[in-house]
Formats: sequence, structure tokens, C-alpha cells
Amino acid sequence: TPRVFSGIQPSGNLHLGNYLGALKRFADAQNKGVQSIYCMVDLHAVTVWQDPVELRHSTRELTAGFIASGLDPAKSILFNQSQVAEHTQLAWVFNCVARMGWMQRMTQFKDKAGKNAQNASLGLFAYPALMAADILVYHATHVPVGEDQKQHLELTRDIAIKFNNDFGVDFFPITEPVIEGTGTRVMSLRDGSKKMSKSDPSDMSRINLTDDADTIARKIRKAKTDPEPLPSEVKGLEERPEARNLVNIYAALADMSVDQVMAEVGGKAFSEFKPMMADLAVEKLAPISGEMSRLMQDVNEIDRILAEGAGRARAIAAPILRQTYEIMGMVGPR
Ligand code: TYM
Repeated sequence: TPRVFSGIQPSGNLHLGNYLGALKRFADAQNKGVQSIYCMVDLHAVTVWQDPVELRHSTRELTAGFIASGLDPAKSILFNQSQVAEHTQLAWVFNCVARMGWMQRMTQFKDKAGKNAQNASLGLFAYPALMAADILVYHATHVPVGEDQKQHLELTRDIAIKFNNDFGVDFFPITEPVIEGTGTRVMSLRDGSKKMSKSDPSDMSRINLTDDADTIARKIRKAKTDPEPLPSEVKGLEERPEARNLVNIYAALADMSVDQVMAEVGGKAFSEFKPMMADLAVEKLAPISGEMSRLMQDVNEIDRILAEGAGRARAIAAPILRQTYEIMGMVGPR
């Protein structure tokens, strides 16, 4: 049976890329009735320094973001990673399965560690093994993510394959990454060659899910473009990263294909297209930020939802971890 798992880091600045590449697609998956498990990956966030007060706030705000995006805690499991110890327990096993060389190839580690990799935390290096554990401790079969997570998901498959081979079992599923649609690679509003990111120093580069209607509209009005009007055909977007990004965002927000969007707006000047886009973005996003701030007024309720989700998650994860230990020859009461 299919089972969906995905995670988002509670490290602040939840943005349009997280929404279109992840949250919105999770809501679509939930509504198709597949069992879905979604995790606020606080243990991933602390691979780089997090202020404790901010981490607590971001974890709750991210949970509010899930619910405001249409995830129903009664249908999907919503919880934070540190409440389900099985993730880190299986991660240790995977630390012993994965090879140093596999980790060294991870481009995200290289990007995040920068020039001085000796100074990065050991956790940042081991991060993809924890991510594999997040997924495989539920025997999840499908993982919806944005483009940037593709390499980590390939590593997850490699870990599952090596574990199964090493122990001669057919135990961990070979997970399918689900990277579909126009929202899986949202680029910066200031530079069409960089992805939209929570760590970009310019707040104008991204639309935050907490932005109000005026801010959203202003960021779109100021988004970088070239001076030409939109091309009349999809092909004309090829060498124009900023134009292509805006059209992709429009398509993802409107649930349209790029072809459909181009049929509607092809040939228009940006002075005409941008206000259309701002209206659409405000219509779709402002209610989410409104709902998030409403939910944040009752953090006890959010904490209750996370604790309840953690209980349901643990009920799935614990037997899978026990079986893993059993396969490996660990002695214990089973
Ligand atoms: P994170 O927290 O950086 O991002 C959360 C999700 O948002 C997607 N995303 C984007 N999609 C489109 N355009 C963008 N500009 C953009 N920026 C981010 C990400 O692809 C992701 O789907 N390692 C993961 C978290 C994680 C996880 C997991 C995911 C931990 N364990 C298990 C899936 C399964 C991360 O750092 O995502």
C-alpha cells in the first residue's frame, strides 16, 4: 500500500517555494486519500545553529502553515521529529550502512558547509542518513519534495538497497521521489538563476507565507524581469529565467499548465502581467497567512496536535525499528 512521507525544516521564513514545492502538493495528495505523514524536522534544523526561542516558534508556525495550507491533522499525521525517537535510532543504523564517499558527494552539504567544511557540524554531514531514516522508518513509498531534494532521495534508495543486500532481506522499500508540476523549482524574485531560499539575505527575493497582501503585491511588482514583453510561445521562455520563473509561479498558483498560462498571457508586457499575478498571489496566499496567525494565537492547541501526531507516528515506526534490530541480530525482548 502506498504511504507518503515528507518533511520541512522549522528554520524560519517559510516561503512560496516551500508552499508550491511542498505544502500545496501535500494538500493535494491528502485529498486523494493516501495515508500521509508530515514531519517538522527540528532535528535537521539543528545541524546548523538555531536559537531555542526561535526554533520553538518556527516549529509551531510551520505546523500552523501546514494546517493553513489545507492539511487536516485528523486525516494526515502531523508531528515534530524530536518527539519520535525512532527517527534517530534508525539514523544510527543508517550511519553504519551509508559510506563516507556517498555523503561527500552531497551537493547540499558542500553548499551549506561552504569553504570551511572542517568547521561544519558532524550532524550536517550525516544529515542525509537521518533523512533516509525519516522516510524508511515508516516504510514510506512516495516522497513529494522540490527539485533540490532529489539527490538526498537517491541516497535514500541507495541506503535501502544496501541494507537489503547486506542482510539478504527485502525489508526497506525503494522509495519513489515525487517531483512533479511547475512548483518544484521556484526561483528567487531577484535572480532567476538562484532558487528561492529562506537564507537569502534579501527579503525581496522571496514571498514569505507570513507576508500580508500589500507585501506580496509589492514583491511581485518589484520582481526582476528583462525589458521585453512576455513571449507569445512557451519556447520563448527558454533563455529568460526571470520571465520563466514568474510564469511557472503563476501556473502553480492557478493550477494551470505553462501552456495554458501562455495562451492567456503570452505577448503581454510585464506592466500588465505583474498586476494579474499579484492579484492571483494575494487571492491564494493572503488567506493562508491570515489563518496561520489565527492558529498561532493558540499554541497549546498546536502543541496538542503535534503530540497526538507523534503518538500515531510512533505506533507505525516502533515495530519497523524493532524488526530492523531483529534483522541485524540485536538482542532484546520482542
Ligand atoms: P526544506 O526544509 O529545505 O524544504 C522543504 C520543502 O520545500 C521544498 N523547497 C522548494 N521547492 C520549490 N522551490 C524552492 N525554491 C524550494 N525551496 C524548498 C523542498 O524541496 C522541500 O520539499 N531535507 C529536507 C527536509 C527533510 C525531508 C525529509 C524531506 C528532512 N527529512 C524526509 C522529505 C523526506 C529539507 O531541508 O527541506
